[in-house]
Amino acid sequence: MSFDPTTYEETSFDAILPAKELIKQIKQSYNNNKYPLVVDIGCGPGNTVKLLDNELKPEQIIGIDIDTEMISFAKQNNGLKNSEYYVQDIGADFDKWDQSLQKVSGKVSVIFSNYALHWVRDVETAAKNMSRLLSNTGIIVVDILYVGDIYRNVSVEQRAKYEQWLRYPSEQEVIGRWMSALKGAGLTQIDIKFWRPKCIYPEKVYDEFIQYPINWYKQYLKDNVDSGVNVDDLLKDLILKDRARKMSEKSPKGEDLIEIKQELWNFVIRK
Ligand SMILES: C[S@@+](CC[C@H](N)C(=O)[O-])C[C@H]1O[C@@H](n2cnc3c(N)ncnc32)[C@H](O)[C@@H]1O
Repeated sequence: MSFDPTTYEETSFDAILPAKELIKQIKQSYNNNKYPLVVDIGCGPGNTVKLLDNELKPEQIIGIDIDTEMISFAKQNNGLKNSEYYVQDIGADFDKWDQSLQKVSGKVSVIFSNYALHWVRDVETAAKNMSRLLSNTGIIVVDILYVGDIYRNVSVEQRAKYEQWLRYPSEQEVIGRWMSALKGAGLTQIDIKFWRPKCIYPEKVYDEFIQYPINWYKQYLKDNVDSGVNVDDLLKDLILKDRARKMSEKSPKGEDLIEIKQELWNFVIRK
């Protein structure tokens, strides 16, 4: 499909596009049009809490995020009559969670998470916590981003060299680990959809965003990186080689555009 600048606003990627897809899946999969309690895991600045509120009209909505600054921003800018926000790591031991959150155990109708779970380190505890929060008739609708295989386009020799200092998990490991963790937490009804949203950014904007995937890979760095290697620059180069395509078309504002391949795994889960 060729690029059409007149539809650029709708087709270009932003966090809202995958969030909207998740909401569509909630509406298709949830057997009730009443949502007593919705929880947004990794809610960030609260934009998705607002979107969920508009789309689902829940009685109560709780946003949790590991980052204190995100939660302060969300409270200030996206605080609603029926919303509450908490600083909380989804992968932390449930017994140590805030008492108000522990109280909603077994009462959550929908657990939503957009573009956040790929950051979770303790996947097994996160899955147990989600299962604990969910009501018996509730659903979990989340996406998991596989950040990508940046060694795909390098020679075997280069890959072996790079893997001495950076060995990140494969897509099978990431998705397989989530599957085992969910099943281990008693969440056995799992539907998965793999999709590749169209992601077109002004090049300048992606220059800032690229720090997020760079930081994802850097979690797995060993301490034997050759001195003289600028890790950020090398990762940026590998990431761009793996998934970016410079576009010949410009945005309606005349900006240079870049198309990024994204790989998202959407999960719809029940007890
Ligand atoms: C890319 S943002 C997505 C924000 C929001 N969901 C959206 O779609 O706009 C990812 C968020 O996940 C949060 N996060 C990362 N690890 C987390 C964890 N273990 N528990 C809770 N939140 C986490 C980050 O702090 C960040 O705000």
